[in-house]
Amino acid sequence: MFSQLKLLPADPILGLSVKFKADSHPNKIDLGAGIYKDEIGNTPVLACVKSAEKYRLEKEASKAYLGSTGSPLFNSKITDLILGEHKVIAQNRIRTVSTPGGTGALRVAGEFIKKCTPGATIWVSNPTWANHKGVFEAAGLIVKTYPYYDYENNCLDFDGMLNALKNIPKEDAVLLHACCHNPSGMDLNKEQWQQVADVTKQVGFMPVVDMAYQGFGQDLDSDAYGLRLMAETVEQMIICSSCSKNFGLYRERIGACSIIGSSEIAADIISSVLLSVVRVAYSMPPAHGAAIVETILSSDELTSQWHIELKEMRDRINNMRQLLVDKLAENGVTRDFSFITRQNGMFSFLGIDKDQVQRLQDDYSIYIVGSSRISLAGISADNVDYLTKSIAKVL
Ligand code: LMR
Repeated sequence: MFSQLKLLPADPILGLSVKFKADSHPNKIDLGAGIYKDEIGNTPVLACVKSAEKYRLEKEASKAYLGSTGSPLFNSKITDLILGEHKVIAQNRIRTVSTPGGTGALRVAGEFIKKCTPGATIWVSNPTWANHKGVFEAAGLIVKTYPYYDYENNCLDFDGMLNALKNIPKEDAVLLHACCHNPSGMDLNKEQWQQVADVTKQVGFMPVVDMAYQGFGQDLDSDAYGLRLMAETVEQMIICSSCSKNFGLYRERIGACSIIGSSEIAADIISSVLLSVVRVAYSMPPAHGAAIVETILSSDELTSQWHIELKEMRDRINNMRQLLVDKLAENGVTRDFSFITRQNGMFSFLGIDKDQVQRLQDDYSIYIVGSSRISLAGISADNVDYLTKSIAKVL
């Protein structure tokens, strides 16, 4: 049976991390995977997470099964974090399950959509996170794209996006990034969200909002603005969220899939279908990450500490945006890279071609995703000179 198999290429993002680790160049720089790094290149465990883990170690009394939804306390805390005080919570129209990371949430969402409409189509932005297509196709959906980024002018192609959305069949689903668009860093403003929400309601397609970076753009509430507006506007909606980045819980694999129904009864039906999807996929989610998050969000003290630590991460990345633009100019790059300072979250497109990306890797040990997406979190005051001089050379 195995002789049928062919060697597959490495994942475009995770494969870079493997190459980076194996590289012995003293000045190597990892701008690949979206993972927070501090000034000295470490991805530390947040202090609030350490405190929550200590608390759990003492208090945890059982490792018995939690069931396919995961921890009810986590599910309710994460729903509040995503939506704030929202009518869909008051109306008891939302059901949340914990999932193995944000990717798990997307796969559950894909499987759920397939249960609603076998062979459904989901539209994703062009460009989008490299794994979206694979996750939804693996769930049996057809994946198509709508315009999003204007590569020539390094800005949003909002007219293109809106026109495409107006023509999407109402049976289809549309994936939207809540904030910190991955890979472009280019987000919708409030007016644009309003227009997208209005079109979603008029046309009637199913919005699927992916929020993997809440807190990395402006702040926790501002980053959820569009998602909350959408939940105000439409009757039904799917939300996939992740605690990987904002709680720094990458390897613990904790995220959530939340689905809003048109009524309490509809939400109960949704819940039963969600549980059946989870049961046959992985039975129930891992518990440790959820326990950490619910412990933090149940304590005012730990929540305040988390807000401070999240802000530190966000501020550091934003400072790196400005520093990168300044240093590119200082090191002789004449091309205008100021768009980088107008973007949000961990990512930006440099807008260089595939050969230049490859030369950065081969000649300078600087690792960037092939699309020229960079993770700003990999930049520091120590490596920015080497980075910008190398970019200047490949340009
Ligand atoms: C990324 O986009 O780099 C992250 O979400 C990590 C991943 O799983 O691809």
